[in-house]
Amino acid sequence: MSHTSYIELNQANLNQNVDYIRSHLKPSCRYSAVIKGNAYGHGIEAIVPLLEQSSIDHFSVFSVAEAKRALESSSDASEIMIMGYLDQEDMEWVIKNGISFYVFSFPRLEEAAKVAADIGVKAKIHVELETGMNRTGFREEELDLLINFLKKEVKHFQIEGICTHLAGAESITNYDRIQDQITSYHHFLDRFYQEGFKPKYRHMACSSGVLNYPETQLDLVRVGISNYGYWPSNELRMNRLLKEKDFHDPLEAVLSWKSKIMSLKKVPEGEYVSYGKSYLTNRPSLIASVPVGYGYGFSRDLSNLGRVLIHENRVSVIGVVNMNMMLVDVTDLAEKVKEGDEVVLIGSQGKLEISVSSFSDMSNSLNYELLTRLPSFIPRKVVKHQEAQGLEN
Ligand SMILES: Cc1ncc(COP(=O)(O)O)c(C=O)c1O
Repeated sequence: MSHTSYIELNQANLNQNVDYIRSHLKPSCRYSAVIKGNAYGHGIEAIVPLLEQSSIDHFSVFSVAEAKRALESSSDASEIMIMGYLDQEDMEWVIKNGISFYVFSFPRLEEAAKVAADIGVKAKIHVELETGMNRTGFREEELDLLINFLKKEVKHFQIEGICTHLAGAESITNYDRIQDQITSYHHFLDRFYQEGFKPKYRHMACSSGVLNYPETQLDLVRVGISNYGYWPSNELRMNRLLKEKDFHDPLEAVLSWKSKIMSLKKVPEGEYVSYGKSYLTNRPSLIASVPVGYGYGFSRDLSNLGRVLIHENRVSVIGVVNMNMMLVDVTDLAEKVKEGDEVVLIGSQGKLEISVSSFSDMSNSLNYELLTRLPSFIPRKVVKHQEAQGLEN
């Protein structure tokens, strides 16, 4: 292996997750897989064909750069929707390629109308409404202007969607906020209907919307984190399992991350390891270097805290994580350990598992954040088998 680590994608687990989400959807509801953030770190190029094999044919990205990658990796039958960044200079490419996109400001809307008129192709737009998150979206006081503009330029637009985003549906503490969002969305939507606009898709639900607020499913859902085998929060996971009275977790992680031992070194008792003085050996130790550091997405916050799996044992990261490597204590494995042995950073080995959530609990970050930090240069390999059952945490 010329790279220092690789990422494995388990296709059976991906299929299982998609099937689980799909089993919660009304049959008429379209399933858009959110693949922004390099498909939550899994790799757009690798994940899109796998999702297509699970009958997903709608992909949501954040930017034009991601849309280009999705277009390259998908079949002609799939549709792509940009939910975020779109520079004026890319408007023509986007419209020509039939890619739909969010509009949440007048400059973007005006540019879309202008380019659509110039090239004679309708712009497929999703009008984003501000219902309470205060991120992007037209506010109520802008509706008159917006509706007048859309009426005036109607021949240049195909209104694909009217949408909004829920501000924290994964936690019951936001219940009232979400209810208010649902109410204002429908209030705004009524106004569009009264004015004669009927979008193809009304959409607002992300993973936690689908699972916690089924009434938000409407015509299309935008599912991200759960495709990849993670719950948007532990609270939602428990809630779901209690409701379904089944404690077998239906979501399975798709991603594993693996490397190899680069070298082994004996260090006497009473010496510091790695930069600074944060780790002092308290016995004659055998230390393995693993060629993965914070430059590869293994957080420096895991210095002296992280764990990896070697020979089906959980071993500790000692000292400060470096840019390109970390050091782990393999003293207790001295009999069997050697250079080139597999090191599991995320995933399972025998009966043990390092989950992204255990990893993120230790570094105090979200699953979302840790996954998206995995660099795109790490090679992705697809495996088709079902992972071993009965993993311990
Ligand atoms: C607009 C929008 N829709 C859908 C999603 C997917 O959310 P999740 O990964 O929680 O399913 C996101 C993610 O942040 C988003 O920003």
